[in-house]
Amino acid sequence: MAKPQKHVFVCSQTRPSGHPRGSCSQKGCNEVLQTFWQELQRRNLFDRISVTYSGCLGPCDGGPNVVVYPEGVLYRGLTKGDVAAIFDEHLLGDKPVERLRAPADVWG
Ligand code: FES
Repeated sequence: MAKPQKHVFVCSQTRPSGHPRGSCSQKGCNEVLQTFWQELQRRNLFDRISVTYSGCLGPCDGGPNVVVYPEGVLYRGLTKGDVAAIFDEHLLGDKPVERLRAPADVWG
């Protein structure tokens, strides 16, 4: 297997209903994850890009959250409609999609 050039981690954390932190699962992350996998397959990029589900990435209130490495770019509030732009502009074009990025102070 070739070493991927970029890794996409899609938060898929679940929490019980009523939990004070909520979760990306409650905000629709599964649809986002499925769309990442569909685009990966449609574009046949398995040798360049890896898409993995993950546990909580930290800033739950803005989810669904996705982080892309090696840059460490955090995207938040994604819908399935945002995924194609992340492929086109960031994963293939090497320019993060600024309109979808979490603000720098999200890490506190
Ligand atoms: S539950 Fe997704 S970032 Fe915490």
